[in-house]
Amino acid sequence: MAQIFDRFGRPLRSLRISITSKCNLDCLYCHQEGIPKKDNGKLSVEEIDRIVGICADYGVKRVKVTGGEPLLRKDVCDVFDVISSTKGIKDVSMTTNGIFLEKYAQGLKDAGLDRVNVSLDSIRPEVFSKVTTGDLDRVIRGIKTAIDVNLNPVKLNMVAMRGINTDEIRDMIKFASETGAILQLIGLMENEYSKEFFDKYFYDLKPLEEEFEREASDVYVRKFMQGRTKYILDRGTEVEVVFPMHNTNFCANCTRMRITSDGKFKPCLMRQDNQLDFLTPMRDGASDSDLVEIFKDAIDRKSVV
Ligand code: 5AD
Repeated sequence: MAQIFDRFGRPLRSLRISITSKCNLDCLYCHQEGIPKKDNGKLSVEEIDRIVGICADYGVKRVKVTGGEPLLRKDVCDVFDVISSTKGIKDVSMTTNGIFLEKYAQGLKDAGLDRVNVSLDSIRPEVFSKVTTGDLDRVIRGIKTAIDVNLNPVKLNMVAMRGINTDEIRDMIKFASETGAILQLIGLMENEYSKEFFDKYFYDLKPLEEEFEREASDVYVRKFMQGRTKYILDRGTEVEVVFPMHNTNFCANCTRMRITSDGKFKPCLMRQDNQLDFLTPMRDGASDSDLVEIFKDAIDRKSVV
C-alpha cells in the first residue's frame, strides 16, 4: 500500500461515494452534491468494490457513502459489505435522511457500517415536513434504532436556515444530548441552483459559536475536517459547527476524493469542471493499472480554492 499525495502535498485519506442520485425527499436546500438533480444510473456493487479497492491501495482509510439517499438501494447492505471488507479501510460511514433507517440499521451494522450521519433540520413536525417533505417520527425512530444497534457516533446534520429553524438550535442541542447523538450545525451553502434561497435564509453561526466558546468545557479544531470546530458543552453534549464551503479553510486541508453516482471522480465539491469518468473505461474492460492512471489524474486535478 502506498500513500498518494496531490500537487499541494496533501495526502488522500478519504472517499465520499454517492451510490445513487435518487432521493425520496425534496429538501429545500438540497445541493445534490453540487450536481443537478437527475437519475444518472449507478455503480454496481462489483464496480464499487473495485474502485474502493484501488483508492485504498493508495492510502484511503475512510469511506463515506452518500446519495441521493443511499437507503433507496435494495443492495445497500452488499455495498457496505464490500467496502468494509476492503483492506486498509478503517472507518465506514453514511449520510442518510433516516426515513428507512429503522428498517436497515441492524443489517447495515452487520455489513460493517461503523457510524451514521442523519439529516435532521428540525424536531418540530410541521417545520420538518416543510423543509424536507418527510415524516419526522420515522426519522426519529431511525435515529434511535441506529443508536441502539451502535452505529455510533450518530451525528445529526442540521442546516441552519434563518427564520426557519434557527430558533430551535438550543432545543436541538438538548435533543441530541438526550438521545446520545452529536449535533452538527451546518452553515447554509450557496450554489448556483439556490442563490435566492441562500440570500433569504443564510444564518451566520458566528455569534452562536462565540456563545459556545464561553460555555464549552472543551473546544477542538479539526484541521483535517475543513477546520470545523467541536464544542463540548455541559454534561458532555457535543456540537460541531460546519462552515459553508466557499472558504479557503474548507479547501486548504482537503484530503478527500468524491465519486459520483454515475462513476466519475469529483476532485472538488463545488467544481463541475474537473470530473473524470472511470466507469466508461471500466465497463470497456480497463485494467487495474489503467484505472490507477485515471485515479492519479483525478488527484492531480484537486485544487485549493
Ligand atoms: N447547505 C448546507 N448543507 C447542505 N446539505 C445539503 N444541501 C446543503 C446546503 N445547501 C447537507 C446537509 C444535509 C446533507 C444531506 O447535506 O447536511 O443533511
